[in-house]
Amino acid sequence: MFFPIIIALVLFASSSNANQIEFDYCVADPTLPHGPSGYSCKDPTKVTTDDFSYSGLRTPGNSSNIFKFGVAYALVNQFPGLNGMGLSMVRADIEIGGAGPIHAHRVAELAIVTEGTVIFGFIDTNNKPFYKTLEKGDLFVVPPALGHFQVNVGKVPAVVYAAFASPNPGISTVDLSLFKNDLPTEIIQKITLLDSAQIKKLKRGFGGTN
Ligand SMILES: *[C@@H]1O[C@H](CO)[C@@H](O)[C@H](O)[C@H]1NC(C)=O
Repeated sequence: MFFPIIIALVLFASSSNANQIEFDYCVADPTLPHGPSGYSCKDPTKVTTDDFSYSGLRTPGNSSNIFKFGVAYALVNQFPGLNGMGLSMVRADIEIGGAGPIHAHRVAELAIVTEGTVIFGFIDTNNKPFYKTLEKGDLFVVPPALGHFQVNVGKVPAVVYAAFASPNPGISTVDLSLFKNDLPTEIIQKITLLDSAQIKKLKRGFGGTN
């Protein structure tokens, strides 16, 4: 009776995160291939405190774009100490009147507003929108893979920090998926019902062709 349970536990443990059983940490060695469970480990004798610290979020991301939305990233590619930890973070700066365009990640996100007033929301798979005006100090959690957005509705630039349940959460932004590549206008027209003039205008704005 116990044997199958033990087998099941062993399988579960080995599939959940082998790194956490074998090692205290596995700082990424980005020169080695990146697989489904992350990067291979940097030589542990070369790991230092600096591998567990990252200052890149002191500086806002570049918000000189059509959304007035800048993102600074602390994902595994910027912060190799996150490898195998199941965590990462970004800092989003949203200018007055700006917005975070609708996008999705592979994993859950937990955000905190640290400056300003922001409408934060997502839309579930029944097409139901959930959104709320957040003030400094307020949190919002976004379920995995659902489209979500932020709108600065305050009188000052807004700052939001968001943590992800993965060192490499991925980002898929609807406008960029549609208009920042060479997917033909005729196909986009069919799959969105937008008219071709609007598609071509958005392609020009986002750097797409075709
Ligand atoms: C911010 O992005 C804009 C538009 O891409 C670019 O022209 C500008 O040089 C960037 N600024 C910085 C500080 O990188």
